[in-house]
Parts: sequence; C-alpha cells; structure tokens
Amino acid sequence: MGMFDGKTVLVTGGNRNTGLFIVKKFIEEGARVFLCGSTKESTEKGAGILASWGLKGFRAIPCNVSKSGEVKALFDVIEKEAGHLDILVNNAAHQGIGKPFVEMEPDYLMEVLGTNVRGGFQVTQQAVNRFFLKQESRGVVVFLSSNTAQRAIRNRTAYCASKGAINSMVRALALDLGPLGIRVNACAPGYIYTERWDALPEATRLRRRLNCPLRQEAKGSDIANVVAFLAGDQNSNMTGEIVTCDAGCSCQHMPEDVDR
Ligand SMILES: NC(=O)c1ccc[n+]([C@@H]2O[C@H](COP(=O)([O-])OP(=O)(O)OC[C@H]3O[C@@H](n4cnc5c(N)ncnc54)[C@H](OP(=O)(O)O)[C@@H]3O)[C@@H](O)[C@H]2O)c1
Repeated sequence: MGMFDGKTVLVTGGNRNTGLFIVKKFIEEGARVFLCGSTKESTEKGAGILASWGLKGFRAIPCNVSKSGEVKALFDVIEKEAGHLDILVNNAAHQGIGKPFVEMEPDYLMEVLGTNVRGGFQVTQQAVNRFFLKQESRGVVVFLSSNTAQRAIRNRTAYCASKGAINSMVRALALDLGPLGIRVNACAPGYIYTERWDALPEATRLRRRLNCPLRQEAKGSDIANVVAFLAGDQNSNMTGEIVTCDAGCSCQHMPEDVDR
C-alpha cells in the first residue's frame, strides 16, 4: 500500500531536475500526478523522461505559473479530468542566475518574483478556492524554498529575495489556512544535484562538497522524501514550517578548509 494511494497531486516544474524526482515519488506511492513545465516543449520533454523511467499515472500540461490565464486553464483540466486535488507542490522556480545586482534591471527582479512568488501565490489560491475548500479532506501545500533565504549567495539578489518571500508567505498562509484545515509548509534545500552540476569542473564539485558537513549535495530523491513527509497525512500537526535539507550547510559558520 502506498503513502498516497488515491490522492491527486499537482507538481509545478515537475518536468525537470528535482521536480521529476518529486513526481516519481508521488507516483511510486500511489498518487495520480499532474505536472507542468513552463512551455509545451519542456513539459513534453519531462513527460518523455518519466515515461522512460517506466512511470505511468501522470499527466503533463504546460503552464507558465506567472500567468494567471495559464494557471486557470491548468486547473480547468485538473477539474475536468480528476475532479479533485489533494496535494499541491509549488516547485517551479526561476533561478535568477547570471545577473549581478549592479546590472539587474528592476524588471528582471519582477520576472523572478513573477514565477517564484506570484506563481506560488496564484497556483495556491486556485488549489484552495477550486478544490481544497470544497472537499471534506481539505488539502496540503508544500513549497520549495531554499537555504539561500537565510544565508545569501552571490549575484542572486532576486532569487534570494524571492525565497525569503516564500518563507514569509508560507507562515502567513499557515495562519490564514490552518483554521480551514489546510496545512502549508516548505522544504528549504541547499545544494541539489541537477544537470547544472554536470557543467561544473570537478574541482568545483569537490569544493562544494567540502562546504557540506555531510560532504554531499542532495539527490533529487532526498528532496522528494522531505516533500512527501511534509505532504503526508501522518504529518497532521505541522504547518508554517520551513524544513531545511542541506547536508548541514546551515549549521556551520565556516567550511572546514578555512576553519583550522
Ligand atoms: N538546485 C538546487 O541546488 C536548489 C537549491 C535550493 C533550492 N532549490 C529549489 O528547489 C526547486 C527545484 O530546483 P531545481 O534546481 O530542480 O529547479 P530547476 O532545475 O531550475 O527547474 C525549475 C523548474 O521550474 C520550471 N519553471 C521555471 N519557470 C516556470 C514558470 N514560469 N512556470 C512553470 N514552470 C516554471 C522549469 O520548467 P522549464 O523546464 O519549462 O523551464 C523547471 O521544471 C526550486 O524551487 C529551487 O528554487 C534548488
């Protein structure tokens, strides 16, 4: 018997990297999963990867979460095809990479916030208003935040700001939605192995691992397991929490090679 038998789940950004592992986890635990990437091409590519892993029981629909009309259209499909939704995972993110603050146009900040904050806000609002409040079983929301909300990284002002906003939004939503029977939590990862790691020099990978007390970046499955824990019915008394999963990076003041 699976942890999510009979449940319907939406994973935004479920077509690539960590999102694929979150989708995989829910399918393996018995759920029916809807997922989206931002475009038709990227969403179809993700569906192809999931199929190549032998997975069934998912439906991939393109949706740019920063666009209200596309979010509504996605929920129209979920309503028509599933008729209910139990779990929402707000995983989609604009990484905001490559723009130092001194060169960053304010419009770029709004673009990052548009996906990470507005996107999470409006997808959650649709889930709550269209499904959770109408269902006896209510629903659960899990956001993907980042440890960079607390400990910033360089040249990522917009991204770090967006993840700080997500943490605040999670706590505010927990207050507003808790009395209605809806839990809202976040997983805050540190380094995760993604296809971007393949482009790094080996020396950089090793140095990053030295930065982690556990000496390793997370696998997608590590993050998926935390998301599943936060989404599970056994976790019925937890809301408004940001659960860090970063190999111990946030515990330390200095990495080992500069702390002797
Ligand atoms: N990787 C890390 O080391 C790390 C560390 C801390 C936190 N996190 C967080 O963990 C989550 C997963 O990280 P990741 O590295 O696996 O992400 P990623 O590789 O950057 O993938 C981002 C995903 O979000 C989707 N997306 C981006 N903009 C979108 C939009 N406007 N509408 C819909 N989908 C959109 C992308 O779809 P497309 O394929 O269409 O672009 C893709 O599926 C993110 O929330 C990230 O911020 C990651």
